Amino acid sequence: MKSDKKLIDDAGKRLDGRGPEELRKIKIEVGVLHRASGSCYLEWGGNKVMVAVYGPREAIPRHTQNLLRAIVNARYNMAAFSVEDRKRPGPDRRSKEISKVISEALEKVILTEQFPRASIDVNIEVLDAEAGTRCAGLTAAGVALADAGIPMKDIPVACSAGKIEGRVVLDLGKEEDNLGDADLPIAISPRTNEILLLQMDGHLTLEEFNKALDFAIKGCNAVSEIQKKAILDKYQSVEVVE
Ligand code: CDP
Repeated sequence: MKSDKKLIDDAGKRLDGRGPEELRKIKIEVGVLHRASGSCYLEWGGNKVMVAVYGPREAIPRHTQNLLRAIVNARYNMAAFSVEDRKRPGPDRRSKEISKVISEALEKVILTEQFPRASIDVNIEVLDAEAGTRCAGLTAAGVALADAGIPMKDIPVACSAGKIEGRVVLDLGKEEDNLGDADLPIAISPRTNEILLLQMDGHLTLEEFNKALDFAIKGCNAVSEIQKKAILDKYQSVEVVE
């Protein structure tokens, strides 16, 4: 729905004061849940996400087992209180779709062939939602998998870019997502820049698409540095305590 509200001014300043290529503030904590094999709490702007990884463990029921590799079950869930209008608890079409695309993205980086018949379960709980929750969830999942010690080719990371009032910008906020022209969330393997997930809603010219993709890849690389720092901070401080 369009409104008269200006999302970006002539100087390129956005509603929350960010420039076109600026990310929202991100905070990552590693290993916050002691019963999980690995966990991560992430805040990204107004998004708050908790991820708990369990496994690798024997996949149950047995007919779900793959004899050659582990299966990756990401389950994205939005808490009823995470959005403005209370969300009906339980899975819906949107959360099933997000769970599927995140599972497929994670499968590409996890060395699943090392764990035949196993499942790796990645529970993504969105506690507060302010646009970009699939990117926040996947980014937190990458950290939680690393915390669980699950062998991966790389730590996956996600970020979106989009278009508001005809301008390509990085990392859409809530009003930008609601009132903007397009949103392009992607996930990559930052070592190789391989794209693990790419979705888009709205309309972009090819030129705008290429620019948005470039912005989103740069955003992913910046978020990847925050992921690595959070993991190093946890494990370096563990060493000091020992
Ligand atoms: O969160 P993400 O951008 O990955 O997915 P989306 O489907 O584009 O949703 C954008 C935003 O809409 C979410 O982050 C929530 O803030 C909001 N939303 C909502 O208010 N109620 C829902 N049932 C689903 C999404």
